[in-house]
Amino acid sequence: MKKLAKNKVLCMQPVPKTLVSCRDKDGKNNALVVGFTANVSLDPAMVMVGIVPTRYSHHMVKESGCFVINLPKKGYEKEYNYLGSASGRDEDKFEKMNIQWKDAEYVNAPIMTDCPVSIECSVIESTMPGTHELFIGKVEAVHVDEEYLDEKGNILWDKMDLM
Ligand SMILES: Cc1cc2nc3c(=O)[nH]c(=O)nc-3n(C[C@H](O)[C@H](O)[C@H](O)COP(=O)(O)O)c2cc1C
Repeated sequence: MKKLAKNKVLCMQPVPKTLVSCRDKDGKNNALVVGFTANVSLDPAMVMVGIVPTRYSHHMVKESGCFVINLPKKGYEKEYNYLGSASGRDEDKFEKMNIQWKDAEYVNAPIMTDCPVSIECSVIESTMPGTHELFIGKVEAVHVDEEYLDEKGNILWDKMDLM
């Protein structure tokens, strides 16, 4: 094994592919690709997303105090690549890509309905140790397509063809 220079280790891989959706105070929806995600707590359930302050989505999460984590399936590559490169500052990304969505139930943000899993979160705290502001979100609700649930309500992760 070879020891790399610290600056070569940008982040651990692989990371789950996630799309974080959010909404501004005027009701405009947006979403971006977030690789900096993590589980934080089981009970109460908490997760974390890291968003760079220069992203257009950053002020939306900051102001609304909430976000939704959506896990995309294979076949969603075109939308994923676009949402991870274009900025809501320049165009309406939902309109441009015809992103299918509905209102979340507990937070003021859109759920991306083509994704089999969506996790509604309220920000309980944030910290900025480096490049990304880490938003810790309390999980308010988890939505899963029924075909990926067993009779006890357990999520069948292996059955899901995630990206
Ligand atoms: C694979 C991948 C991972 C990314 N991870 C993050 C991330 O963790 N945090 C972040 O702020 N931006 C991340 N980005 C960049 C944003 O998704 C990208 O800059 C996006 O266009 C920002 O959109 P917005 O300006 O509409 O918010 C990632 C992009 C890609 C392709």
